[in-house]
Amino acid sequence: MHISIEKKRLCLDKKLQNAFDSMKDSFMVSDMELKKLARQFEKEMEKGLEQPFDSIPMIPTWVTEHPTGNEHGEYLALDLGGTNLRVVSVNLKGNCDFEFEHTKYPLPASLRHCSCSELWAHIVGCIEDFLLQKYSPLPKEPLPMGFTFSFPASQNRIDQGVLQRWTKGFNIPDVEGKNVVSLLQEEIDKRKLPVKVTALINDTTGTLIASEYSDPETKMGLIFGTGVNAAYFDRIDRIGKMRETVSENLIKTQTPIAINTEYGAFDNEHKYLKRTKYDIYIDENSTRPNQQSYEKMVSGYYLGEILRLVLLDFAIGGMIFKGQDIHKLKIPFIMDASYPARAEEDDYRQLPLIDKIMKTSLGIQTTHCERQLIQEISILIGTRAARLSACAIAAICRRMNIQSGHCACDGSVFKKYPFFTMRVENALRGIFDWKHGKEIPLKLVAAEDGSGVGAAIVACLAKKATIEKAS
Ligand code: BGC
Repeated sequence: MHISIEKKRLCLDKKLQNAFDSMKDSFMVSDMELKKLARQFEKEMEKGLEQPFDSIPMIPTWVTEHPTGNEHGEYLALDLGGTNLRVVSVNLKGNCDFEFEHTKYPLPASLRHCSCSELWAHIVGCIEDFLLQKYSPLPKEPLPMGFTFSFPASQNRIDQGVLQRWTKGFNIPDVEGKNVVSLLQEEIDKRKLPVKVTALINDTTGTLIASEYSDPETKMGLIFGTGVNAAYFDRIDRIGKMRETVSENLIKTQTPIAINTEYGAFDNEHKYLKRTKYDIYIDENSTRPNQQSYEKMVSGYYLGEILRLVLLDFAIGGMIFKGQDIHKLKIPFIMDASYPARAEEDDYRQLPLIDKIMKTSLGIQTTHCERQLIQEISILIGTRAARLSACAIAAICRRMNIQSGHCACDGSVFKKYPFFTMRVENALRGIFDWKHGKEIPLKLVAAEDGSGVGAAIVACLAKKATIEKAS
């Protein structure tokens, strides 16, 4: 049950009410501010397409055609993203149809900081396990694999990608600056597995392509999860920085090319986003300060942490949880995005869910007032994340003159965070001045499985391109 902040009456004492009010102001983003941010976003995207390593990365992916829906064949996909690792076997059947089987392997938190060799050994161990479950005996001919690598990787070809920098709390040495396809293939070959990595894609590119395969209205692919990002199709002749890498003839063509925007890096210079003291704390104490500034305010990896920091601030200020043991609340990242999500969903009259999670997970007994406060803070955090997310969508629409269609979305925040879609769509209405009471022309829709099916389609397109080149 959810009621807007304005309509609810909070039972906070004066000091707490004042603290909450000023915190509330620092989290609110007006339509006017969103409009300005969306314009800035567009400019930064343009800069990123002109100059390498300037502003938002805007990485050309070398996916230079849209899927037709008639792609065929059996492919493997490997999905390395945020919290899980997945190995997928996809059978593309043409007619926009496919079947797939997959196994999810948890990615232990320790793997975010392990050594380079441990990372690849773990990943290839999972591939081996999957192959042994599915094939007996193992095939003789190598199976083509699309590798969904959900981090910023510069690409000069479809089957190669150099990691620019880790995001989402990953910090594994000796991978940045290297071609991750070679690192993966070396380990596969060491174990003599019949797998050939033929394409590297980002999860957003996968989402875009898999959704286009079955929904012609798709205009962009977006992930709102542990990290955030979008991919869309641009045109080679509009991408200044490609002059360095492609022939003079190609640069003049209107060939479509999917761009992995890596928009989580928006405003790494801290010039445009209104950051709260909690955002600044998160950034300064992260493994990568001054990187992924926008992502740190909107992605699932940080939403629970923002809530924890606000609560801790109020608790240390003696305004809440008086006389309680708050040592668990002091543990960084103890609250994931499911905390604010569940808090928002809770029945505002009794708030039983908040009561339970605070007691069982943090050992804190809450009063009704404190539970109300937790719900309100969560609403502010969740609303800000959704509203800011709309700026990136608006910027892509403006650049590509998209007036209507589907934004194919995936990720835990999109799937599980209450009211997320509605809030993004409302913010888009504000940015574009779309009239109230009428459906908006741009819809956020649930994407097809981009990291699995999308990777397989891209591997298939890559194979087709190689065959065409050879003939
Ligand atoms: C990564 C992107 C990815 C996004 C969603 C970000 O942290 O930089 O490559 O697409 O997370 O997974």
